[in-house]
Amino acid sequence: MNYKIGCIAGDGIGPEITNEARKVLDAVGAKFGFGIEYTDILMGGCSIDVHGIPLTDEAIEAAKSQDAVLMGSIGGDAKVSPWYSLPPEKRPEAGLLGLRKALNLFANLRPSKLYSALKGACPLRSDAADRGFDILIMRELTGGLYFGERKTFEEGGLRTAIDTLKYNEEEIKRIAVKAFEIARKRKCKVTSVDKANVLDSSRLWRAVTEEVALGYKDVALEHMLVDNCAMQLVKDPAQFDVVLTENMFGDILSDEAAEITGSIGMLPSASLNETKFGLYEPSGGSAPDIAGRGIANPIAAILSAAMMLRFSLDLKDAAEAIENAVEKVLLDGIRTIDIMSEGMTEVGTSQMGDEIVRRI
Ligand code: IPM
Ligand code: MG
Repeated sequence: MNYKIGCIAGDGIGPEITNEARKVLDAVGAKFGFGIEYTDILMGGCSIDVHGIPLTDEAIEAAKSQDAVLMGSIGGDAKVSPWYSLPPEKRPEAGLLGLRKALNLFANLRPSKLYSALKGACPLRSDAADRGFDILIMRELTGGLYFGERKTFEEGGLRTAIDTLKYNEEEIKRIAVKAFEIARKRKCKVTSVDKANVLDSSRLWRAVTEEVALGYKDVALEHMLVDNCAMQLVKDPAQFDVVLTENMFGDILSDEAAEITGSIGMLPSASLNETKFGLYEPSGGSAPDIAGRGIANPIAAILSAAMMLRFSLDLKDAAEAIENAVEKVLLDGIRTIDIMSEGMTEVGTSQMGDEIVRRI
């Protein structure tokens, strides 16, 4: 069997880390008897450099015609990169948002798991780190503040700006259904995070989530206010299983959930629509400060490839082979600089990829 995978290497550390993910995918393909045909797709800053815009219609069409898309990262250092003197809708990030919308990728899965080998890298108090955690953030990805009406204007002589947080019940329902479905395969708990003590959109979110929960009596639903959730994540992350939340809250909480694992360079993500298609990318950004130095942690990209095998290609065993190899590499004390600690062996980006391949 041959699969068609789009590869958006992107900017910053994107090309280096997707290179390692491809290496690992090819190795796992050789072992499990499937092949991958890659199509490179430009998006973000590298697309601006070539086409003047971060996402072309051709890129969208190319992505749509694949079985799935593997992505690195997009964007640069806003202080120095010429991409950021362009108007907002022409900057690298607009490309990613445009692609999410064009492919209707409304469900963003961001797992945050503390590997036992990395307990020492966890910045939390040792009792919290000892209990460990395995959280799945289910972030709504195509609605809310990111896609609502926005404008900057003058009012009473003052510069004024508006962003709109809008959700309809269908948008809430479809992401809630995904959260409950996936909770069923985990620890059967959904924590729906909102700001229902202030926002109308959150009160609707809560009502619709409760309606969806009626169809999932085996899954426990709790509601939590987003400020409390931010606090609980650092106090007692073990309490969470699936965290369901809207786009902006999910953006913020998923970085927090990533950081408590020791490094944002470890965390993969999947962005899914109603079909098997998905876009798979590290939760972290393009890290322009370390780009091109061969020191970036490729594990998030490699684990994103594993998520792609699981969710888009139905290759569960191959996905597990990658996840086990990552677990083994960590147990064997191999570390990139972001997760380095005393007594461990420090390696660069491509050596980390090689070490994972060796354990497939
Ligand atoms: C993310 C990123 C993006 C987002 C940016 C790059 C637009 O922070 O994927 O979390 O805010 O969604
Ligand atoms: Mg983010």
